[in-house]
Amino acid sequence: GRTWTAVSALTPELEGQPVLVRARVHTVRGKGKSAFLVLRQATATVQAVLFVDDESVSKGMVKYATALPRESIVDVEGSLKVPAEPIVGCSQSKVELHVTGIKCVSRAAPLPFEVTDAARSAEAVKKAAEAGEVLATVGQDVRLDNRFVDLRTPANQAIFRVQSEVCQLFREALQRQGFIEIHTPKLLSGASEGGAAVFHFDYMGRPGCLAQSPQFYKQMAICSDLGRVYEIGPVFRAENSYTHRHLCEFTGLDMEMAICESYHEVLDVLDALFVHMFQGLNERCQHELEVIGEQYPFEPLKFLPKSLRLTFAEGIQMLQEAGYDVDPFGDLNTELERALGKLVKEKYNTEFYMLHRYPLAIRPFYTMPCKDDPRYSCSFDIFIRGEEIISGAQRIHDPALLTERAQVLGLPVETIQSYIDSFKYGAPPHGGAGVGLERVVMLFCGLDNIRKTSMFPRDPKRLTP
Ligand code: 4AD
Repeated sequence: GRTWTAVSALTPELEGQPVLVRARVHTVRGKGKSAFLVLRQATATVQAVLFVDDESVSKGMVKYATALPRESIVDVEGSLKVPAEPIVGCSQSKVELHVTGIKCVSRAAPLPFEVTDAARSAEAVKKAAEAGEVLATVGQDVRLDNRFVDLRTPANQAIFRVQSEVCQLFREALQRQGFIEIHTPKLLSGASEGGAAVFHFDYMGRPGCLAQSPQFYKQMAICSDLGRVYEIGPVFRAENSYTHRHLCEFTGLDMEMAICESYHEVLDVLDALFVHMFQGLNERCQHELEVIGEQYPFEPLKFLPKSLRLTFAEGIQMLQEAGYDVDPFGDLNTELERALGKLVKEKYNTEFYMLHRYPLAIRPFYTMPCKDDPRYSCSFDIFIRGEEIISGAQRIHDPALLTERAQVLGLPVETIQSYIDSFKYGAPPHGGAGVGLERVVMLFCGLDNIRKTSMFPRDPKRLTP
C-alpha cells in the first residue's frame, strides 16, 4: 500500500519529499493558472497549491481543483516546500504542499452553512460589525439540525477531546483508589429517582422505564460486596424543562463506596478526583482549551488544592448576609446557586466548592438523615462556577428506615421492594455521587449551554439527528 501522511505531520523536515494526504477541502480559490486550497484534517490545516506551469499539472486539473465543493474529501499527492513567508491561518504554516495529483474521494453536497462561519467567535462578528462589515454566524438550531457538519469546527473538535479526557481522568483516579467499573441495566420496571421525570415504554407487554440513574443498582453492587464501584453511562430524564443545563439524555459519571464514619469520606474521594481531573485537563488538553477559548473566550477555572466545604446553613447565611431572601430549609434555585457561587468566589477565591448537610426534606428518599439533627441530611452538591455538577449522599442502609422514608415521601413502596430487600441481608454503610459529564465540560470551559457539550443533544424539542 501507499504511505499516507497526517496533515499534522506535514512539517519542514519533510521538505522535498513526496507525500500523500487524505483531507477535506476547507477552502478553495482559483487564480488564473493556479489554485490554492486549504486542506483540513480535524483541526490541522495546510495550504496546497497547483500551478499549471508545473510539469504534472494541467489546465484541466487546476479547473477541477477550483471547482471542488468545500468539505469534499480528496486524496492529494505532492511534495512539501517551505514558503518564504509562513502561511497565515494554517496550523501547518511552515510548509506548503505542491500538488501533482488530486482526486475527489467523496464530493460534498451544498452545505447548510460554512464550517468557517460556524467557527467564528461572537467577538469577531461584533468587531467586524463595528468596522461596518457583516460576518456570517450560525444559530444554535441550524447547527444542531446539521450537527454532523457543526462538529467539524475547531472548537467542537476540541470540546469532545476534552470530554473524552474527563472520562479518562475519572476512570484513572477511581481505579487508582480501588474502584471497579460496573454496568447497570437501563431498562427498569419503575422510577429510580422519584416519580415525575421518567420515560415509559412497553417492555414485552409490561410497563417499563428508562433508568433515571444507576442509583439502586450501584447500591446493590455495594451490598453484593463488589466494594467501590463506578459507572459511566446514559441517564434518561423526561424533564420537560428547556434550559441551558438540562438534557433528556445525558452521561452520568456515578460512583458508590462503603464508608466507615461519614459521607465526608466520599467528599475526600471526590476532592482528590476533581483536583486531579482539573490539573490533568489543564496539562493534557492545553491546546484544546486554547482552541475552545478562541471561539468561546473563558477564564481558566479557579480551584483550590484542597476543595472548600461549606454547610448548607453556612451557604444560606452568606446569602442572607448579602441581602437575599432565602428559606433555610428550601432548595436553592439556579439564580441563588449562582449568587452563592459569586459570593464564594469573592470570599474564598475558588469556583469549585462543595455544599453539604442539605435539608432532608428536599433530598431523595434514600438519603441518610443527620444523626444530630434529622432536619438535615448526610448529603451534598458540588458546584463549578455556581452551577451544580454533582449531587451525592450517604444512603440509608436500614430497610425499615428506607421503607419509612419512602412512605413519608409518598412513593409506591411495592415498586421498589426488591431494592429495599437488598439491604435485608447485611448492608454496609455507604455513600456515593452522580456527576453530569456534559455539565462538567460545559462549566470547566465556561460554556453557556449544555447542548455545546453533548454530541447529539436530546432535549424536550429534539430527537434528531
Ligand atoms: O442530581 P441528580 O439527579 O442526582 C442523582 O442522579 C443521584 N442518583 C446521584 C447520587 O449518586 N446521589 O443527578 C446527578 C448529576 C447532577 O448533579 C447534574 O450534574 C447531572 O447529573 N444532571 C443533569 N445533566 C443534564 N441534564 C439533566 N437533565 C440533568 N439532571 C441531572
